[in-house]
This record gives sequence, C-alpha cells and structure tokens, in this order.
Amino acid sequence: MAASWSEIFPPAPAWTEKDMTSQAGRVFLVTGGSTGIGYETAKALYHLNGTVYITSRSSSSAGSAITSIKASSPHLSQIVPPGQGRIDFVVMDFSDLSTLQQAAKEFMSKVNRLDAIIHNAGVMLPDNPDETTTQGWYQQLGINALAPFLLQLFLNPLVLHTASLPTTPPNSVRIIFLSSSGHQAAPSPDGVAWSDINLAHTTKTGLRKEAERYGQSKAMNCMFAYEFARRYKGKGSGIVSLSLHPGALKTGLQKNAPGWLNLLFGILRKEARFGALTVLWAGIREIEEGDANMLGIKNGKNGGYVEPFGRWGGGSKDIFEGLMERGTGERLWGVCEELVKGFR
Ligand SMILES: NC(=O)c1ccc[n+]([C@@H]2O[C@H](COP(=O)([O-])OP(=O)(O)OC[C@H]3O[C@@H](n4cnc5c(N)ncnc54)[C@H](OP(=O)(O)O)[C@@H]3O)[C@@H](O)[C@H]2O)c1
Repeated sequence: MAASWSEIFPPAPAWTEKDMTSQAGRVFLVTGGSTGIGYETAKALYHLNGTVYITSRSSSSAGSAITSIKASSPHLSQIVPPGQGRIDFVVMDFSDLSTLQQAAKEFMSKVNRLDAIIHNAGVMLPDNPDETTTQGWYQQLGINALAPFLLQLFLNPLVLHTASLPTTPPNSVRIIFLSSSGHQAAPSPDGVAWSDINLAHTTKTGLRKEAERYGQSKAMNCMFAYEFARRYKGKGSGIVSLSLHPGALKTGLQKNAPGWLNLLFGILRKEARFGALTVLWAGIREIEEGDANMLGIKNGKNGGYVEPFGRWGGGSKDIFEGLMERGTGERLWGVCEELVKGFR
C-alpha cells in the first residue's frame, strides 16, 4: 500500500481563509494545539471569532501558544472581521488513559456546547520506540489512537447535545481525526493486527516496524471517523465525522525521521498553515445534507477521508473496503471499548 500521487503532490488549496465564515458562538477543542498544525488551526479559529480550547501536556506550552495566538494577526485574506475570539487550554496527557476522565470533566465544566473536536495530538517515530504509555501500549497506538477514542467517548454526550440544539445548523457539528497518508503502512488488509494490536510481535524491524505502528494508529483514526459516522449519522444528529491527511508539513513531528527521509521529503513540506487549511476544510466548511447523510468514502460522504489541502479522497482501498464491506469499524470500536473500559 502506498500514498496516492495526489497526496504526495497536492494541488494548491482552493478553499482558504477568504472563504471561511464567522465561527462566533461556536466552541472548538483542538488537541495538541500548542504546536504545528494544531496551533495553526487554533489560531485561525480564534481569529474567526470561535471559542477555542487547546490541549497540551504542559500548561506553560499552552500558555505560550495562547499568548502568541492572541498577539498574532489573522491571515491577510480573511474577510471575517476578527476580535471576538476566545482561547483557553486544558492540560491533557494522552500517554496515561487514567488521566483523561478528569481532563474531559474539566473541559466540560467550562463549556456548554462542543461544535467541533479536532483530534490532532499525535506522535510519529517517538524518541524511545520501546517506551510504552502508562498502560503498556506502544506510544503511537496509545497516544494517536486509544487516547482520542476514550476522549471522544467522554465528549459524546456534549457533542450529541450540541447537534440536537435547534439553533445548531444542520451538519455543522464535526468530529475530525488527523490521520496521515502513513495509514497506508498499516497491517494489511484491515489496517489492524487484530491478534496483536500492540504490534509487539511484528516481524518488521527498525524503521519499518515503527512505520507500521504509526500506520496502524493512523488507520485506526480513519476507522474511528468512519465508525463514528456509521453510528451517529442520520438519527437527527447532524454530526459529520471525517479523517484526513493534512499534507507533508514543516512541524516537529518528523524530528526522529532518518536524515535521508527528511532530505528527500523536506523539499515537499509546506508551512503548517496548509495542514490547518485541510483541517478547517473538513471542520468548518459547509457540507451538503446529502453528503452528510450518506456513508462512504467518495464524493463527499460522512465518515470519509480528506486529502491535502482540502479535497475528498479515497484513503487505503483495503482499509475502506474493510469498513464498508467487512464491518472492521464496528469490530475496532468493540476492541477499543474493551481496551479502555477500565478508564470510563
Ligand atoms: N506534519 C506532518 O507532515 C503530518 C503529516 C500527516 C499527519 N500528521 C498528523 O498531524 C497531527 C499533528 O502533528 P504536527 O505535525 O502538528 O506535529 P507536532 O507539532 O509535533 O504536534 C503534535 C502535538 O501532539 C501533542 N502530543 C504529543 N504527545 C502527546 C501526549 N502524550 N499527550 C497529549 N498530547 C501530545 C503535542 O502537544 P504538547 O507537546 O504540547 O503536549 C503537540 O502539540 C498528528 O496527529 C500527526 O500524525 C502530520
């Protein structure tokens, strides 16, 4: 499985800040919002007058990011007059599932609605690949997949409540998972090694082993988005749930990638703002009723996959076929519910 040509060489974004509408009155949660794509996403939402919460493991990192966002200017092409945005943070550490209930409670004590959650926090090729999360999961699985899954379970009632409010525009509530074209490196064919979820016994070694672990965690992000849509589309919920590849971007994510890889792909990488454009395309752009009510992966359907820098894409053929024809999303949901049940 390999990333598509159009993901490696995406066209220039067609939908940008000039197309974005006011987000006044709407509440956003952006995990990992103190750096990279999350920071750029939070900054744009703040200037569009949204109420934005970012998460970070460190209150000082979050505080510095917020100071910097407040001191920044909106993109030059933004049409919406800024000035009403609000931004705050909640400390969340995804490497320990036992801390998430309290963190989610703290967030929910500050807000009465949640219009979009951007599951952005993540790691790739961690500093020490043998290090595990508190619960013993390899970091890419624990941080990129199990923690956002559990967090989403805590936030579901608030998300459903927001979608049910008569004043909430149809299909405006969004659950967005930052996947990656790297999901193509997940175990074949379903994207999940069902009998070895932690990939502790993979036959791959070195970089290929870590790429497979990252790939599986990012495949799970696609699968969560699809399964969430399958469970909640229709039923008057008006929720749209999508996964995306934000593009190849200049952030701290690749710090442990081998030099040759950074040299090869370094020239293709864009500023983190381009990743935020992909996120915002999925997260705040209007989506037509028909697309929101249909489950699929092509032609703009709920549960689908978005390519950089804001286009409908297909993702891994095998993985999405598994979701649509073999019930792998429902299976993964069940597996993950079991894995996190001690922390709810
Ligand atoms: N950059 C790319 O080219 C690219 C390509 C494809 C997909 N993505 C995806 O985009 C997302 C954002 O990545 P990025 O490129 O913006 O990288 P980044 O700048 O390194 O941001 C990652 C964020 O994740 C948070 N994080 C890391 N470990 C965490 C933990 N244990 N608990 C809670 N939060 C944690 C960090 O927050 P704190 O350090 O503040 O806690 C940080 O803000 C990731 O999911 C990544 O897989 C990126």
